[in-house]
Amino acid sequence: MLSMTMMGPRTLSVLISTLLIASAHSSKKLNLNIIPSNGEIYLGEAKYFMCKASQEADLKWMNDDGEVESDPGRYELKKVDETLIGLNITLSSIEPDQVITCKAETDSGEESEEKIRLSIIQKPKIISDFGKKQEFNAGASVKLPCLTEGIPKPKISWMHNGESLSQDPGRVSVGGDGSLQIGKIQLSDAGPYSCRASIDNRNERDQKTMTVIVNAAPVIHLQNDRLNASSKSNTSLTCSVTGNPAPQVNWRRYQLRGRVSDHSMHIQEPESQIILCTVARKSM
Ligand SMILES: *[C@@H]1O[C@H](CO)[C@@H](O)[C@H](O)[C@H]1NC(C)=O
Ligand SMILES: *[C@@H]1O[C@H](CO)[C@@H](O)[C@H](O)[C@H]1NC(C)=O
Ligand SMILES: *[C@@H]1O[C@H](CO)[C@@H](O)[C@H](O)[C@H]1NC(C)=O
Repeated sequence: MLSMTMMGPRTLSVLISTLLIASAHSSKKLNLNIIPSNGEIYLGEAKYFMCKASQEADLKWMNDDGEVESDPGRYELKKVDETLIGLNITLSSIEPDQVITCKAETDSGEESEEKIRLSIIQKPKIISDFGKKQEFNAGASVKLPCLTEGIPKPKISWMHNGESLSQDPGRVSVGGDGSLQIGKIQLSDAGPYSCRASIDNRNERDQKTMTVIVNAAPVIHLQNDRLNASSKSNTSLTCSVTGNPAPQVNWRRYQLRGRVSDHSMHIQEPESQIILCTVARKSM
């Protein structure tokens, strides 16, 4: 037997590499790879799977019913060469997950198989008709539907005025079907509402926006019904009015039995505010 000590370092390394190459050849195993490895298929869209073998083999695809054959509109089988077989799959209706298997057998009888689970997915989509705007009378109970499709079921979120909507139990809530329910709608509920349907782990979303208009009768909020006016400064009376459409505000002045002198009272009337300029008291 050859002793290691009798060989120089160079001889040794040549021997080792020769051994490595030899072992790589003899243990070349039949390996299968399905590409892509993600079996999710969008409903109604084709997805092409390749099964690649590490060496020449007899390749086929199998499902529960046996060997997969071309089936126009569903399976399109593509035998590329002795190491590659393709399957173009289109699933056009919702069906349970299924497993397909790629099987390989070499001339020397070596066998291998690789499985992939196919599951249908669908992008989130809002199917409710949103229109541009919806009008309601104050006090009404309102339901804004947001029906969606998508697999798995999309998550629904609502926004009001561009901010995520805060639910107010008993008055503002999102129903199980995704609809937004507002009890006794009020002026502050008006504005744009967006419904967003999202499937976060695939980073997919759909969004629709509508404007809600609330019609409300005018309501006057007087800050003070009694006011001391000074002859040195201007006094302003503010009348805040809410209502939709915006109410028109008019001021009306009653004569206080001549106690306010006309010549020294100047009234400026910018909409909801009246400014009394330099009020004077008539000497009695
Ligand atoms: C798979 O099928 C679709 C629809 O028939 C086709 O558009 C697409 O080119 C096919 N892909 C491959 C790789 O054959
Ligand atoms: C107006 O002035 C009188 C006398 O100074 C005072 O008693 C009264 O409380 C004042 N009223 C208001 C609304 O400020
Ligand atoms: C009162 O209002 C008028 C008009 O806005 C202004 O010209 C004037 O300077 C004001 N007077 C005082 C005392 O603030």
